[in-house]
Amino acid sequence: MNFTVDQDITQAKTISTDFYLNESHFQQSKEKIFANSWQFIGDTDGVKEKGWVTPVNLLEGFIDEPLVISKDKNDRLHCLSNVCTHRGNLIVERPCKLNDIRCKYHGRRFQLDGKFASMPEFKEVKNFPTAADDLHQLPLHTWGKWLFTSLNSKVNAEEFFRPMAERVGWMPLQDFVFRPELSQDYLIDAHWALYCENYLEGFHIPFVHAGLNSVIDYGNYTIDLFKFSNLQLGVAKEGELVFDLPPTSPDYGKRVAGYYFWVFPNMMFNFYPWGLSINIIKPLGVSKTKVSFLSYLLDESKLRQGAGADLHKVELEDEDVVQNVQKGIRSRFYSHGRYSVTREPGTHHFHRLVAEFMK
Ligand code: FES
Ligand SMILES: [Fe+2]
Repeated sequence: MNFTVDQDITQAKTISTDFYLNESHFQQSKEKIFANSWQFIGDTDGVKEKGWVTPVNLLEGFIDEPLVISKDKNDRLHCLSNVCTHRGNLIVERPCKLNDIRCKYHGRRFQLDGKFASMPEFKEVKNFPTAADDLHQLPLHTWGKWLFTSLNSKVNAEEFFRPMAERVGWMPLQDFVFRPELSQDYLIDAHWALYCENYLEGFHIPFVHAGLNSVIDYGNYTIDLFKFSNLQLGVAKEGELVFDLPPTSPDYGKRVAGYYFWVFPNMMFNFYPWGLSINIIKPLGVSKTKVSFLSYLLDESKLRQGAGADLHKVELEDEDVVQNVQKGIRSRFYSHGRYSVTREPGTHHFHRLVAEFMK
């Protein structure tokens, strides 16, 4: 099936509901969408010192690619396959500090940059070692302290991340601190894309989020579209908490309550005066999704104020409506809808990208 979404939002229909309902489209999206984009894999605090290695299972329960992030003796970070090139054992089981990476199965050793180092009982083996005996190296993109990789080394990181870096790069990104006790996972009975497209419009704020609506000036809410990302700018009502923007910020003079960045296909970076809430949308099944909220604190004194005051409440309100939509799109009487030109360009942008990647 070929998904099409008209470039012209005034003409366009939303993507066919087959995309959310059909198991084979769900399976195909692994390679077509998720293997051809960038994915969040953690932050530099997990690999602070030379010799640190941290295993990562990329999109557990969906892609399930075993990776390891390492910091070598020259302070360089690497994203490597965590699969031994001998017989495929998983090598690093937990974060630890090492001199070299040693497989516990038959003792093959690798340097911290993934290069093959040694192997017992292999003297007689011809044409060994070759580059194929090194751990596979994946591309690594670092922005601030956050790390990303792609299963496709040809996908350009700048096209995904530069608009966000240019807009909020003035923030002291290295000072954001991960706070596990403020972070939480949510399990949702809905397709991952339904969760994303709900995030991508502020249209529902006055209807679904009474609390948030009392803080945000909905009339001045704007959306900027970039190639593989977009930004919803939440402008605050009079008297509400706003960013203290420096003159170097492109938004200097505006009353910004929150920056809502989305990066295709499943990453959200919500900056509030208190810090950053990263949301990673992890598909688990055609109608099962895990949403991970990761909180990075910058200014604790602003924690329970403004647009980012109660993310848990807003999340439950969103889950409720998204799970209802999951039930609704199964209806024999619904196949697609239309877009509000003023309020839904973000959802239209997402659907266009999905259709393009699923080709
Ligand atoms: S699988 Fe790693 S040394 Fe054999
Ligand atoms: Fe919402």
